[in-house]
Amino acid sequence: MRASAPGKVILLGEHAVVYGRPAIAVPVSQVRASASIVPAPPGAGLTIVALDLERSLHLGEAALDDPLAVVAFQTLAHLGLQDLDGVLTVTSAIPIGGGMGSGAAVSAAVVRALAGFVGADLPLQEVSDLVYEVEKLHHGTPSGIDNTVVVYERPVYFVRGQPLATFGVGRPLPLLIADSGIPSSTRAVVGAVRRRWEADPLRYDALFDRIGERAVAARDAIEGGDAGNLGRLMDQNHQLLQEIGVSMPALDRLVEAALAAGALGAKLSGAGGGGSVIALVEAGTGAAVEAALRAAGAVQVLHTVVA
Ligand code: MEV
Repeated sequence: MRASAPGKVILLGEHAVVYGRPAIAVPVSQVRASASIVPAPPGAGLTIVALDLERSLHLGEAALDDPLAVVAFQTLAHLGLQDLDGVLTVTSAIPIGGGMGSGAAVSAAVVRALAGFVGADLPLQEVSDLVYEVEKLHHGTPSGIDNTVVVYERPVYFVRGQPLATFGVGRPLPLLIADSGIPSSTRAVVGAVRRRWEADPLRYDALFDRIGERAVAARDAIEGGDAGNLGRLMDQNHQLLQEIGVSMPALDRLVEAALAAGALGAKLSGAGGGGSVIALVEAGTGAAVEAALRAAGAVQVLHTVVA
């Protein structure tokens, strides 16, 4: 039994989405987390092997807050099981701390592999809800956008607490994702933003409103195939993220380099404080923008298409 889930990027609206404003996220299907499971002898219990992290754990002896054990516990409980006899192997090509939803994708792959192993066909929303429960333990106050986009694997227009809304893409939008190489802790950055919001709610709510307005306008631009307008909205979103205090010089340098090389728009993506920058490009300018991003410090540049 083998299962997987993609990475993701947030096109517009991170952080503001935690406070109820809309945001847009898209899956990045070429980088994935995978989980496969094979039977183990009766009574052996569940062993989880995380190849990239070079660790393995036995569920019966795992710490209750171990991230991999938590997703297995939650899934088995949801399936009405206490344990099962198997060896579950997890791998991921999604950069950890890269703002690309690696934690949510690993959880989604594990949920799917365990459910598939016992022959349960879980609806997407149930998988997403299980991943959300795990995200809550790791991140404190997640909006739910990461679990939604990696489980449904389609572009989402997301408002916290509302049913999933998808939308059409007027024309394919080439996007570069540049990993700054600086690990980002979503929990730490989301927590820092919360403290600033509590200290000055009027200012931060106004910033979140302005970000949300741009997410609404961006959905129209994407549906209408208006890449120029989408790029401008991404630039404005980056400036607002700077005002919220989640950018940093290394991310600003990547954004400036992409724009100078001809990108239609660029911004940090995800929690910030490290992680990734995304750049919207026109067909034909991707190579020049990639070279500029690498020269400005990107350790990895992925090409994807929003479609
Ligand atoms: C993280 O991918 C996006 C944030 O908005 C947090 C969240 O929505 O839970 C920073």
